[in-house]
Amino acid sequence: MSLPYLFINAAMSADGKIASRLREQFKLSGEEDFARVDRLRAESDAIMVGVGTLLADNPSLTVKSEKLREARRRKGLQENPARIVVDSRARTPPDADLLKKGSGERIIITSRAADKDKIERLRERATIITAGERRVDLRKAVEELERLGYHRIMVEGGATLNWSLIEEGLISEIYTFISNQIIGGATAPTLVDGTGYTTPEETTKLKLESIEPLDKGILLKWQIQR
Ligand SMILES: NC(=O)c1ccc[n+]([C@@H]2O[C@H](COP(=O)([O-])OP(=O)(O)OC[C@H]3O[C@@H](n4cnc5c(N)ncnc54)[C@H](OP(=O)(O)O)[C@@H]3O)[C@@H](O)[C@H]2O)c1
Repeated sequence: MSLPYLFINAAMSADGKIASRLREQFKLSGEEDFARVDRLRAESDAIMVGVGTLLADNPSLTVKSEKLREARRRKGLQENPARIVVDSRARTPPDADLLKKGSGERIIITSRAADKDKIERLRERATIITAGERRVDLRKAVEELERLGYHRIMVEGGATLNWSLIEEGLISEIYTFISNQIIGGATAPTLVDGTGYTTPEETTKLKLESIEPLDKGILLKWQIQR
């Protein structure tokens, strides 16, 4: 079964944190990086986040530039890529900004453990994909996304979803904007949390593709080595 092309984009502090110790959104990027992220979104078929990010930040994940939205329309595409939430128990609030703001498809990926009433409420605003028993089976889910025509998927976090996708070998590339700030805090999420590896042999190996000064930080582009 073929898989879509998945890449992660994240902004992190110089000490690797992607949010504050209160796990709240943190302004890390400047104008140039925001514009770069907007272009990446506009070039993708879908944007994926974990329900942790949705609950913490309530993002809309829309394309912000009118020019980029117009360019998508001219290609016969929706203004915004499909927006996908990985949400085993259907905890996505039906009034989440992602479900309300901007045109385009919405997809909630749940497991069989999700409450049926919650699913029915979400079905009014989103396509529901069920994959996995208690937790979303990410491989099955992305196979289904590929089948539905979503070939290029941008993952915008958070830390737990990033870990699972990397561990499952589903990510091909990682873009990290590293800001000139130190956030600190043992409870602040990092680029990749989850269980983590214990030995150097187990680690996911990366190949550096490019380094670019951007805003007051740097942009790194990594390829995952298989
Ligand atoms: N700086 C940045 O670029 C950036 C970007 C995004 C987010 N963030 C920050 O990241 C934080 C959120 O990260 P997070 O780690 O708490 O949440 P997350 O990674 O966004 O979502 C994790 C949740 O997804 C659900 N999930 C379902 N199936 C899964 C699977 N197979 N593997 C992993 N997760 C699965 C789980 O909840 P269920 O079991 O209930 O489904 C899990 O708790 C926030 O503080 C946010 O501000 C920063």
